[in-house]
Amino acid sequence: MGENITMSDIDKGPSIFIGARGKDLISFGSGQPDIPPPISVFDVLRGFPYFQYGNIKGELPLRTSVANIMEKKFKVPSSPENVVITNGASEAINLIMSSNLDVGDKVLLTRPYYYSYLPLVHINRAAPVFTDLVNNKIDLEDVKEKVKGVKLMIVNSPSNPTGAVEDKKTLNALQEITEDAGTFLLSDEVYNALVYEGKHYSPAGDNVITVNSFSKTFSLCGFRVGYLSCMDDNVVNNVVSQKTHTSMNTSLLSQAVAFETLKLPSRLIEKNRKIFKARRDLIYNRLLGLGLEVQKPEGAFYVMSKIDNPKKACFELYKNQNVIVYLGEWFGAPGTIRLSYPLELDKINEGIDRITSYLNDAR
Ligand SMILES: Cc1ncc(COP(=O)(O)O)c(C=O)c1O
Repeated sequence: MGENITMSDIDKGPSIFIGARGKDLISFGSGQPDIPPPISVFDVLRGFPYFQYGNIKGELPLRTSVANIMEKKFKVPSSPENVVITNGASEAINLIMSSNLDVGDKVLLTRPYYYSYLPLVHINRAAPVFTDLVNNKIDLEDVKEKVKGVKLMIVNSPSNPTGAVEDKKTLNALQEITEDAGTFLLSDEVYNALVYEGKHYSPAGDNVITVNSFSKTFSLCGFRVGYLSCMDDNVVNNVVSQKTHTSMNTSLLSQAVAFETLKLPSRLIEKNRKIFKARRDLIYNRLLGLGLEVQKPEGAFYVMSKIDNPKKACFELYKNQNVIVYLGEWFGAPGTIRLSYPLELDKINEGIDRITSYLNDAR
């Protein structure tokens, strides 16, 4: 059964579960794809010859490919000079904040939010402002009120933790509202390849900073490669100045692997999307079958559920059922738990069976 943790450890946040492994453990915790990257990328690893420092912005071939994808696939203006390759989307988000915000600047977050956003706002001594999602969707009228005096807003579609996908109309309106308010719009699109209802859309504009990652689309979480693209040269220069003195270049080996994934045919991405859609259908229907209150996720690989006493559920599921679920409170959503489902169908079934046992004991 789960390792020695106490109920109060749950307050420490997701770090208590990140990296947890075990033969019989079923983790609906960390958001990392279980499908390995295609075999062709492994060829890069053998005999890799570059051991010296790399360009701080990232290697030119990778930045060129990324800029092409930004323009052709996402229809967002870009250029290799306006792309920075980072240690995952995580570093991109942190660098955007740390190099472009002053102490006390306001950052507007949609709530529920990805669990790192709020700590990053605090780490960078900025001030969080929240706009609560309505049925998991952005309330533009509320944003119009809350955006006043805000330096940076973060939008995340498809969303972690809700799985909601915002439509083109909303994202375009959001871009205009933020631009009029003199606010940067950070669009975190790390789940762009996993959309099951509707279509992914990338907002574009002078105030937009697009953030993306190789972690989710190409199963490269541990290689730590992501990027930001922004046509505002100041933003890019600020990021590069800080990266020079913090992490320096992103791992050259990881960049070479990332570059290889961009040559893969899009049917591989589509194949994975279909696998994840079947998983979404299974977990959603099984949670509904348990009488839990859930909204159907439209993308990413997460689903949120209301549950009685979520902290006890989180603790006892781990302790007694060897199942990890994340506490909704970590995402600004008390009264809920979040389940990630990058798992094979039989594991999802087994995990839900164990949750059923927990609920039967608790009722
Ligand atoms: C919404 C969102 N943004 C960013 C990240 C960080 O991704 P990366 O592995 O590229 O740092 C995650 C990871 O779970 C995420 O869910």
